[in-house]
Amino acid sequence: MEDLYYSDYIELDQILNSQHPKSFESLEEGNDEMLFIVVHQVYELWFKQILFELDLVRHIFVRDRINDNSDDLSRVVHKLKRIGKILELINQQVNVLETMTSLDFLEFRNVLLPASGFQSKQFRLIEAKLGLKMEQRYKTEYYKHTRRGSLSEVDLQEVNQAEGESTLKELIIQWLERMPFFEEEYWREYKQTSELNSEDRHRFWIDYRNAYQTSLSQNETGRLKEFDNVFFEEGRGSVSPAAMRAALFITIYRNLPILHLPFELLNTLSEIDELLSNWRYRHFMMVRRMIGLRVGTGGTSGAGYLEGTLSQHYAFREITEVATFLVERSKRPALPNALKEKVSFNL
Ligand code: HEM
Repeated sequence: MEDLYYSDYIELDQILNSQHPKSFESLEEGNDEMLFIVVHQVYELWFKQILFELDLVRHIFVRDRINDNSDDLSRVVHKLKRIGKILELINQQVNVLETMTSLDFLEFRNVLLPASGFQSKQFRLIEAKLGLKMEQRYKTEYYKHTRRGSLSEVDLQEVNQAEGESTLKELIIQWLERMPFFEEEYWREYKQTSELNSEDRHRFWIDYRNAYQTSLSQNETGRLKEFDNVFFEEGRGSVSPAAMRAALFITIYRNLPILHLPFELLNTLSEIDELLSNWRYRHFMMVRRMIGLRVGTGGTSGAGYLEGTLSQHYAFREITEVATFLVERSKRPALPNALKEKVSFNL
């Protein structure tokens, strides 16, 4: 068998022969279009790797029972952290493109019309697979048609299909709902400290609500009603009350050995949301510098549209907002020994 050659293995010829600027032919006339193309290609390659990791994570989670004591959860956290690192890197890459000035961009902007990053199918797939839904998007009307500058019909279908499959967010919600912390066998010896009684709430949560109440300042008292709503009535956004309770429980008792990884997982999801949001911000600022208030090549209002996505396009907002309902460590109800044993490694 012939030895494998480096450039054949990574199909380098194909990659290095895929840069064809449209605004110049010879080096003497060369402008920043080359940089523009290379930067976009690098982004798309990283998007590809992010999608690969995301699919793997979803594949592990799709199983009915992910084993928290096996490699499964640590693999998931590892992969999601890797996605975080890639997002950090691609945030940095904005600096390279920003060495191009707005006048440099105008040299070739017209040749790329009506193409736009708005048509990046991979970016939309990342958003969809994480759990961002069409109806949650800023200016949903931009996404629903396939006219010039929008996604092609085939690409839009693929994005819609990805949105219809189990998204990472949905899988996380189901996993949280399966948390076994409140089986009665662990709570027999638990001594409720507050006096309230409730048929449909576990004694622990009655105590916790009480602790939360005492941690609220005078102008925050409305939060108690919100607590009831989020954890016992409607949930928050698309996350059920049971899943919200599990996320809160994991966050409060993260120091217990078996909850380290679940906490890392939730924390990494918030980190991914934050890093994507940093990217949106960097991209928006760059666009404003580059084209001011002109409309985008993809037919949106341009910087205005991008600024709108910033406040709305989060996949894991509800998980991050669990922080609203935390209490000081010293106010946490003490857990019964039977449960502590269950959630400790018994080596
Ligand atoms: C000179 C640099 C750039 C300019 C002026 C620019 C401009 C824009 C504008 C105006 C939009 C809004 C859609 C539209 O109407 O076109 C947009 C969207 C987008 N651009 Fe860029 N862009 C630049 C660089 C990049 C780079 C390097 C990437 C990397 C892949 C990128 C990816 C995207 C994505 C994914 C969207 C959709 C964002 C969303 O809908 O949330 N852009 N861009």
